Amino acid sequence: MPYIGLPILASLISVLGFHAGHITAYNPEDAPYQTQPGQSGYNQCGTGYNQSSECQNAYVNTIQDFCLWAPPYTGSTVGDTEQVEVAWCMQSGYGTRLIPDGTITGAHLVVTPDYIQITGVGNLTNINILANDLGGELDYYGASGAGYPIGALVFSSAFGPLAQIQEWTSFISYNLFCIRACNPSSNASNLCQYTYPTLGCEWNMPANYSEGAFDYCVGDSAEPIGIYGTSTFSAGQPTTPRPQAIPSSSSCTSYSTISNGQSVLSGAVTSTSTGETRSASTLSVVSSSSTSSTPLQCPPGYVTARPRANGVISFTMSFDSWETLVFMSLSMVLGCLVGGILPL
Ligand SMILES: *[C@@H]1O[C@H](CO)[C@@H](O)[C@H](O)[C@H]1NC(C)=O
Ligand SMILES: *[C@@H]1O[C@H](CO)[C@@H](O)[C@H](O)[C@H]1NC(C)=O
Ligand SMILES: *[C@@H]1O[C@H](CO)[C@@H](O)[C@H](O)[C@H]1NC(C)=O
Ligand SMILES: *[C@@H]1O[C@H](CO)[C@@H](O)[C@H](O)[C@H]1NC(C)=O
Repeated sequence: MPYIGLPILASLISVLGFHAGHITAYNPEDAPYQTQPGQSGYNQCGTGYNQSSECQNAYVNTIQDFCLWAPPYTGSTVGDTEQVEVAWCMQSGYGTRLIPDGTITGAHLVVTPDYIQITGVGNLTNINILANDLGGELDYYGASGAGYPIGALVFSSAFGPLAQIQEWTSFISYNLFCIRACNPSSNASNLCQYTYPTLGCEWNMPANYSEGAFDYCVGDSAEPIGIYGTSTFSAGQPTTPRPQAIPSSSSCTSYSTISNGQSVLSGAVTSTSTGETRSASTLSVVSSSSTSSTPLQCPPGYVTARPRANGVISFTMSFDSWETLVFMSLSMVLGCLVGGILPL
């Protein structure tokens, strides 16, 4: 029996090892230069910011500290650039591009037990989206598990120290955006579904998209995307069901604006602008309510704003296909040998 069982065990280990390739977790300091074959940008991004950066690390932390995926150059649709899009962030320090001030005209952050999500509106032509482009979906899976953008990493401190978020989804068009990063410790993967790419923000992430307000709230989790009671909608079915209800939220804090000091550059926004350290203190966050304006703090168990805190080092067990093959072969040989010896 062990003779039969051990090769099976070895194969299982191999399969698990192969799967681990997909769930490798990094933090920004220890990420390799690139994390996926065929990646156009990089994950070793340094500090400061750079309007020509090809950094593909995005952060979803607070209403003043989040990033969106958008094209690295002008003139192409989201659909044509989804593999190569780069991170555009509200805050300097990550080595990414900055979202120019005035671009985001409304943003709403909600933290639920299952995810952190930011939804909003803006003039996203400032970050290379074509006017009237209805855009598309960027998510952790992409076409083959490598993500779109390929090699994209998302980090958040919403669920503890800053850590990579494996499951996330987002949409962007010329005037609307949404990004949701799912809590790794919750069984929330059906809340970061990526299988309804043509249905956009408001269908996939029913939430507040109003203009002229910047707020963060705690809230209930949405219903799983595409699941209506006992029936599951499959993309492509003739009738698209209504969007699910906007989940309720509470304990909101509002700000009159968000900014970082980066102005919109006339013409191409891809001209290089350097700045080693644009400190967070240049953020002009204005509280429009009686609640405190500094620093952003959510109730315990929700967002603790610790941008760029040194994250927990997670395990790394990644194999590219060549290594996986060798590993699998060795496991099989070892399994057979041990299996052959044990009965003696
Ligand atoms: C900005 O990013 C571009 C693209 O990665 C790079 O070539 C350039 O050297 C960077 N500039 C600075 C000042 O870091
Ligand atoms: C968006 O911004 C661009 C560049 O700043 C500007 O030319 C355009 O008029 C703006 N569009 C809208 C709808 O405000
Ligand atoms: C996790 O899944 C279980 C079983 O499907 C469900 O009862 C529970 O509510 C889920 N928890 C969350 C946080 O979604
Ligand atoms: C959206 O946010 C605005 C500003 O905070 C608020 O007045 C409005 O009630 C919110 N709408 C929904 C649907 O939550």
